Amino acid sequence: MSTMPASLTAARVAIVSGKGGVGKTTVAAALAIAAARAGKNVLLAEMEDREAFAPIFGLRKLAYTEQTIAPNITGLTVEADEALVDYLRMFYGIPTISRALMRTKAVEFATQTAPGLKDILLIGKVKEAESRRHEGAHVFDFLVVDAPPTGRLPRFLDAPRAVVELVKGGQIRTQAQGVLDMVTDPKRCQVVLVTQPEEMPVRETEETIETLSKMGITLGPIVMNGVWPELRSLGKEPEATLRAAASDAGEDLSDDAIRVLAGVATTHARRARNQRKAMKTLANDVSLPQIELPYLFTERMGRPEVEQLAQILSGCVS
Ligand SMILES: Nc1ncnc2c1ncn2[C@@H]1O[C@H](COP(=O)(O)OP(=O)(O)O)[C@@H](O)[C@H]1O
Ligand SMILES: [Mg+2]
Repeated sequence: MSTMPASLTAARVAIVSGKGGVGKTTVAAALAIAAARAGKNVLLAEMEDREAFAPIFGLRKLAYTEQTIAPNITGLTVEADEALVDYLRMFYGIPTISRALMRTKAVEFATQTAPGLKDILLIGKVKEAESRRHEGAHVFDFLVVDAPPTGRLPRFLDAPRAVVELVKGGQIRTQAQGVLDMVTDPKRCQVVLVTQPEEMPVRETEETIETLSKMGITLGPIVMNGVWPELRSLGKEPEATLRAAASDAGEDLSDDAIRVLAGVATTHARRARNQRKAMKTLANDVSLPQIELPYLFTERMGRPEVEQLAQILSGCVS
């Protein structure tokens, strides 16, 4: 077990990733809220999915351009075509390229010609925001990226290195080197993996950690999302225990009700136990701190629920 302090803001950029569906988007939003609460000026960026954060912040979808979505939080959807426009403007001084034209053909052409270009455009946009300064000071104190799922993450983060190795010189190489410098600098960038306390996601998380470590990428704490509460043991005779507890509480439950309840409680307890086991496995295998977020038994994960998770993450934000 690690004794490292769990800091989610140890680097200026937190790349939030994980297997699809584990709660990346939710955790990224909660982390942005927690950091904003701590007084940071936060950029929350999503990659080519304009609708991911919108419901959490009460919007239908995010705009392509940066917009304030909550106090201290700027939302941004990074799109490869928009990033390409930026890129051409910046490096080749082409200011009036038609966005509509770009959107139809250029990216399609470019990404087919050079796979990996799309990834470097996306992550290059993050780097631009990370390095952006106003009157000498960084515009954003902290950047949270809702990154591609772990299956795509190594390729995504490796794109700049591939370009540096391929291109011998010039602006494109300089740009790629700049992105590579950010991605491999522990003060500027760390990957925050979100996982769930189940055998398969934990195994995939361990594999991702190994891959990223070999690439020289720094890993932050692991966010263990969806942890069930531990239940008091009902002992060897759950039905008798429940019947006694019910009568203590002045409830008169039928045998059927007791049987159903005992079944649910036993299943729940087993699941909670298996979760602890998965968390222990991860703690034994890797020396990264784990931050636990509870499973919220709610019909809808809206702003209040995400705020609740943010409150917990506040302890790991400095
Ligand atoms: N701690 C949690 N408790 C309950 N539901 C959660 C929790 N975290 C995420 N969810 C829900 O799980 C689903 C997947 O979460 P999401 O953040 O969209 O995952 P991802 O971005 O990894 O695909 C969403 O419906 C979300 O509201
Ligand atoms: Mg998502």
